[in-house]
Amino acid sequence: MLRRLDQILASLGYGSRREVREIITRRRVTVDGVVVRDPAAKAAASAVRLDALPLEFPDGLFVVFHKPAGCVCSHDTREGQRIYDLLPARWLARNPAATTVGRLDRDTTGLLLVTDDTALVHRLTSPKHHVDKVYEATLDRTPEPRLIEEFARGTLLLEDEEKPCAPARLVLRGGAEVELTLTEGRFHQVKRMFAHFGYEVQRLHRSRFGDYTLGGLAQGQWLEVPRPS
Ligand code: URA
Repeated sequence: MLRRLDQILASLGYGSRREVREIITRRRVTVDGVVVRDPAAKAAASAVRLDALPLEFPDGLFVVFHKPAGCVCSHDTREGQRIYDLLPARWLARNPAATTVGRLDRDTTGLLLVTDDTALVHRLTSPKHHVDKVYEATLDRTPEPRLIEEFARGTLLLEDEEKPCAPARLVLRGGAEVELTLTEGRFHQVKRMFAHFGYEVQRLHRSRFGDYTLGGLAQGQWLEVPRPS
């Protein structure tokens, strides 16, 4: 898709419309290797270079991020350290800004998808789409095996909710370690499902979201991945 140069640079977080016009008129931008000084000139974002470097994520941002504990998925700076404080600042300056596909609690670690594609966020978080999310948890004690059936049945009604949780797959890993696969993403869902039966989740980690896994990604690191078809 061809767009105005100033529009491309501003939407990818390189500055306000005024700032990027200045960047362009100062001959810092090329299209297919040729300096272009007209902010209104049209180009494909992937053909644009700024100071001889390709633009970041010219065709959209979609990454897997390994969230550490102690940061929130909110954009609100009043909530303490945000995951966005651990990511390149330009991602928040994009329009649309980077956002997460669903959220993890402050103390939860693991896989988060970060993107600027709002339609994709809606698709991947919609209950209609049944994307598997796999959580590894440590409980305060060894769970009773009957929880497997309780979660699988699809009848578990959480406090203040009208619709029961969709069937979920629980695997007992030995001792207080469990793995739970959900197809929905309700508020504090894993903790509330276990709390319903009197268990406390002491450690929670998301290891998979749909087909995406963390591979060897260290905490606080991110990796660009192909977006789902
Ligand atoms: N369920 C929870 O309780 N917390 C999370 O962070 C994710 C799922």
